[in-house]
Amino acid sequence: CYSPELLHLYDLKGKAVVAVDVLRATSTMVTAFAHGAADIIPVMQLEECRTFGEKGCLTAAERDGIKAEGFDLGNSPFGYMNGNIEGRTIAITTTNGTRAIRLSEEADEIIVGSFLNLQAVAQHLKELQLDVLVVCAGWKGKFNLEDTLFAGALVERLQYEFESENDATLASLYLYHTAKADLLAFLRQSSHVRRLENLEIHKDIEFCLRHDEYDVLPVWKEDRLVDLRAV
Ligand code: MLT
Repeated sequence: CYSPELLHLYDLKGKAVVAVDVLRATSTMVTAFAHGAADIIPVMQLEECRTFGEKGCLTAAERDGIKAEGFDLGNSPFGYMNGNIEGRTIAITTTNGTRAIRLSEEADEIIVGSFLNLQAVAQHLKELQLDVLVVCAGWKGKFNLEDTLFAGALVERLQYEFESENDATLASLYLYHTAKADLLAFLRQSSHVRRLENLEIHKDIEFCLRHDEYDVLPVWKEDRLVDLRAV
């Protein structure tokens, strides 16, 4: 599913959703858990994020690729690496990534995926006996390349142990095979890479394309994300 706005077309009951926003929300969430975040509360609105700040949470907010004013953190993974979030609960809202998570709540399980924790996600899915739907954050309802490349990388890691009636699965795998030798070069002309580079955001792009940097497995539990690897 290339956009959370299409989720009404899917029956999520009995399915595991892998929510992905490579640039950058789910890469940032995985990085936050890898650097000691206790749990993460993805929210849809800026105002709701502020209310969690009043309850003592760290707050993170991005709109159109830019850190929103008046919040503790933005949406660059590099903002979560200096020990500032150890043991803290982080409420976060982003343009698309948090929507991909919150709009998937009907699923039996929601897993946060990125290239950074690709193997942890693939290993977990192999243990689950559930159909899988990769929910790509995209950009404001539009398809993006990087999230579908992640889906293809995940299909490859599952060693083709899948049957899919949706050709998007094969398309994502073939796209990843075409791009995997140099993802950054392949994505050079993509919309979000151009958008971020126009904002002078360069190092996030290379970092978010790295594979298997972190062995963390954020999953939805009741009202927030927790790292299954840490419990
Ligand atoms: C999103 O949520 O769409 C992205 O993470 C935006 C960004 O690059 O921060």
